[in-house]
Amino acid sequence: MNRNLHRTESHPLGIIKAAIQEYFEGRHPGEFRFFDDLRPIVKTEANFDELLIPEDHVSRSPNDTYYVGDGTVLRCHTSAHQAELLRGGHAAFTCTGDVYRRDTIDATHYPVFHQMEGVRVFEEDDWGGEGDGTAHAEAELRSTLEGLAKHLFGDVECRWVDAYFPFTEPSIELEIFYRGEWLEVLGCGVMRQEILEGNLPAGASGKRRRAWAFGLGLERLAMVLFGIPDIRLFWSGDERFLSQFKAGDLTTQFQPYSKYPPCNKDMAFWLSDAFTENNLCEVVRGVAGDLCEEVKLIDEFTNPKLGRTSHCYRVVYRSMDRSLTNEEIDALQERVREEVVGQLGVELR
Ligand code: DAH
Repeated sequence: MNRNLHRTESHPLGIIKAAIQEYFEGRHPGEFRFFDDLRPIVKTEANFDELLIPEDHVSRSPNDTYYVGDGTVLRCHTSAHQAELLRGGHAAFTCTGDVYRRDTIDATHYPVFHQMEGVRVFEEDDWGGEGDGTAHAEAELRSTLEGLAKHLFGDVECRWVDAYFPFTEPSIELEIFYRGEWLEVLGCGVMRQEILEGNLPAGASGKRRRAWAFGLGLERLAMVLFGIPDIRLFWSGDERFLSQFKAGDLTTQFQPYSKYPPCNKDMAFWLSDAFTENNLCEVVRGVAGDLCEEVKLIDEFTNPKLGRTSHCYRVVYRSMDRSLTNEEIDALQERVREEVVGQLGVELR
């Protein structure tokens, strides 16, 4: 997946990344470092432990995260680089990259997407030495990110919602009112002090420190800003998509080229122990790749006598670029049925 979409200047993801970096550079000239080429394979320590993510947190499950080797994963968020960059002595940075999650299939979910992480550290002089700096960091975080939202979306109304992340306290989420809807834009908070103190080398001055952090999804912002209806489009090599975007231009409104017709195929089976919806979607993607637009549960029931549960899934096939033939879809669905049985041990009905 080494497409480097976020490093392609005229790609919508590259355009959003550049606009955010430009905002931080304008606000604090020369202060922020911008990383965008850190390797996506990281140690589980970096992805979880160093962020104080509890042992029993769902994100650690192999049903959610891609484990690639002994003690390594495909990062499931760019937060995986916080500790390492602090250890490198960086006190103000963003870090952008591809992140990976096992998930279900629909228009807004794809196993690879892009995030940007941001961190800024303060010293006690910045907050006038009063208290531990939390209030200062939080206030500065809010005004920085409200400013960022306005930089990207124009003069939008912003609101804050309480949240929970293991690595921040307090944790909050920013929402904006855009085109008639409240949309979640990012998660953020005041970095847990253990993470900051455990990693950022102590300054010679011995001054106390406090930091904020945020993380945002580039596809989500780009879909809203440019009006891109399907997350698979980001991976399209089709000129009808790519040629619509220009480096530095946040105003483009995506013009859909004719949508090709979808084709639905339903499939019912008795569940097995290995069955999870994410596993099913992984199998479907393995066979159909980007030709699958959505996998949705349309019916389920349990037979109490047999103690067995049956699910019926609808697989929606549609190409972004061309019409699919019946033969092609039938062949895909046949292979999906075989692989679901072979890999998950379900029993087709
Ligand atoms: N890592 C979080 C996620 O993937 C996003 C996030 C939330 C990052 C809060 C942060 C933060 O740095 O402070 O959903």
